[in-house]
Amino acid sequence: PETITIQELANRMSERGVDVIRLLMKQGAMHKITDVIDADTAQLVAEELGHAVKRVAESDVEEGLFDTPDLESDLVSRPPVVTIMGHVDHGKTSLLDAIRHANVVSGEAGGITQHIGAYQVTAPNGLPVTFIDTPGHAAFTAMRARGAKVTDIVVLVVAADDGVMPQTIEAIHHARAAKVPLIVAINKIDKPDARPERVRTELLQHEVQVESMGGETLEIEVSAKQKLNLDKLLDAISLQAEVLDLKANPTRSAEGTVIEARLDKGRGPVATVLVQRGTLDVGDLVVAGAQWGKVRALLDDQGQTRQDAGPSFPVEVLGFSGTPEAGDRVAVVESEARAREITEYRERQKRDQAAARGGSGRSSLSDMMS
Ligand code: GTP
Ligand code: MG
Repeated sequence: PETITIQELANRMSERGVDVIRLLMKQGAMHKITDVIDADTAQLVAEELGHAVKRVAESDVEEGLFDTPDLESDLVSRPPVVTIMGHVDHGKTSLLDAIRHANVVSGEAGGITQHIGAYQVTAPNGLPVTFIDTPGHAAFTAMRARGAKVTDIVVLVVAADDGVMPQTIEAIHHARAAKVPLIVAINKIDKPDARPERVRTELLQHEVQVESMGGETLEIEVSAKQKLNLDKLLDAISLQAEVLDLKANPTRSAEGTVIEARLDKGRGPVATVLVQRGTLDVGDLVVAGAQWGKVRALLDDQGQTRQDAGPSFPVEVLGFSGTPEAGDRVAVVESEARAREITEYRERQKRDQAAARGGSGRSSLSDMMS
């Protein structure tokens, strides 16, 4: 059944919560402002207070939360968001680490070796590039299935001594399905048995035609181990980004996606969020999946606190009441009541789905016994 909190009902009517409570009390029901009442009761209350009521479907709870249009004139360039994919052991993590450390000001490098889900570096042209360390292809697929398109460019890592392998092919298919351009990083070229030419030919068999073979896919030979050609890779990413002409409106309220989240003993739920549109500010009310919170602090990938985070910026967000899930979309809402309404709705949806699954299980069992 449809429900609404008294606070939210009062907000929508621009009435005071106490007046709604008083009216309900006259009808013999005692309530607190945070209580939920059913839609029929809410309609009676609204009409009693002289408001016209338009009942909407429950799915409209999410109405206007995401993807509301921006004015063309509000759009400005934003950094590309890059995901590194490839076969097991081909050097994805090594490459991410190498790029990050090559970019970290010397002297600071010591303490910054812990795993992080997303970070930003500066390309040789001076523009920032955001990297996401997806835990694997499964997570990438899950994110896509939930409508979260987080990545603009996929860097496909192929080890020159091993060549195209099953997960290389999988990654090509993922990128194609998501309509995201590929840049090929032929890694481990320092190895004596490296055969980059073979990689190019094998890629061709999967309809990836690299530049040196007359195609359009950018390719760079790199060595994560020897930090070879990392600048060239960043250049290629910047070039590809230029072609994509990536833009976002930084002036609206923020939207983004949870890249990873965990419960920290001291700090509570910590979510790494990629901001995709708008600017996230300390103090904003946010929802992510079935969780909400008031942003208490924002931290960049170096652990420095920030006041805000604009498009394509990855930040750790502190202040969620519970731990959201990777792939959850993040939105800023205008009131705590709206945050509660949305997350309670989603919580209810989760419960209903679980109940439906449990329910069907029971009925099939009782079918069998009858
Ligand atoms: P998974 O996360 O398990 O899929 O692996 P990965 O793709 O992240 O590979 P990882 O970075 O863990 O590297 C795998 C192995 O290859 C490690 O032993 C690295 O040291 C080695 N390696 C990575 N890059 C290079 C390189 O450029 N040259 C050489 N010689 N070895 C490399
Ligand atoms: Mg790895």
